[in-house]
Amino acid sequence: MDIDKENKMTSLDQTIAANTEALYARDESKSPTPAPAPAMPTPSIAVTVGATPEAEEAVCCEPIITSKGFDFYYGKKAGVRDITMDIYPCAVTAIIGPSGCGKSTFLRSINRMNDLIPNTRAAGRLAVNGQNVYEKQVNLVNLRQQVGMVFQRPNPFPKSIFDNIAYGPRLQGIRKRSRLDEIVEQCLHDAALWKEVKDELKKSALALSGGQQQRLCIARALATKPKVLLMDEPCSALDPVATGKVEELIRKLRTNYTIVIVTHNMQQAARVSDRTAFFCLGELIEYGLTRDVFTNPTNEQTEAYITGRFG
Ligand SMILES: Nc1ncnc2c1ncn2[C@@H]1O[C@H](COP(=O)(O)OP(=O)(O)O)[C@@H](O)[C@H]1O
Ligand SMILES: [Mg+2]
Repeated sequence: MDIDKENKMTSLDQTIAANTEALYARDESKSPTPAPAPAMPTPSIAVTVGATPEAEEAVCCEPIITSKGFDFYYGKKAGVRDITMDIYPCAVTAIIGPSGCGKSTFLRSINRMNDLIPNTRAAGRLAVNGQNVYEKQVNLVNLRQQVGMVFQRPNPFPKSIFDNIAYGPRLQGIRKRSRLDEIVEQCLHDAALWKEVKDELKKSALALSGGQQQRLCIARALATKPKVLLMDEPCSALDPVATGKVEELIRKLRTNYTIVIVTHNMQQAARVSDRTAFFCLGELIEYGLTRDVFTNPTNEQTEAYITGRFG
């Protein structure tokens, strides 16, 4: 991958990130009247490294995301090809691999954020909760509320901390101030930010530090009560202390959410994930429990990558 291409992709990621409002945008033509919001889940803390017993057991239960022979094309060029993998609920799945191997493409395909890029095409099956997300009748607003996304660079809206989090719930039709107060407080608790910001909810989100902004973006994503949280290199713009806080948060959130995280940092994948998928040149090369992929990879390319011989 040459530098220009790398820069181009970074600016694409930024464009998409800048369009985060698309995640919340109302599709007036199709949106049904929003259902009343269910009570917020309260994640409990479960800090472990690698697969949790729950995550291993989860293999026995139904996957929440199923990809079968999934391809995604930019024009004629495949971003990913023939991806077949099941992603299990209430666990962290890491996607690793060299730059340009299709990690972001696959991630963005899950909630159809790639639709924002012109001249693209998907083929094969990619289902969330049994529903192929590429079928015509899929309501993108509902899909993106179920499958939230956190980007490489924190991208809070230029609004107050409160209004950032209340944005999605307000679009869902929640108007009552006391209910919005509850949601904002719960989401900030869940994103491990409440203690730091509880006395300044009216302050601009842009005045927070980078690490706080990223946790705010996680809180904002939680506010629409997603089942799945997609994270594309969520710590790559953060310092080590802020990275540690976000990693701790990811491990905590796995109790109640399905998290799919793209990372180029293998130590991070090893620290936070239960399962790891290794992509190379647009293909899925190896997928299994993180412990196995890192200690006993079955594929030579995986071994070469994790031992630092390429990538
Ligand atoms: N907007 C785009 N237009 C054309 N090609 C793209 C675009 N985004 C990504 N690609 C191509 O798709 C492939 C996978 O890219 P990407 O998913 O961004 O990889 P990664 O996230 O692993 O670095 C690369 O070859 C890249 O050049
Ligand atoms: Mg990427």
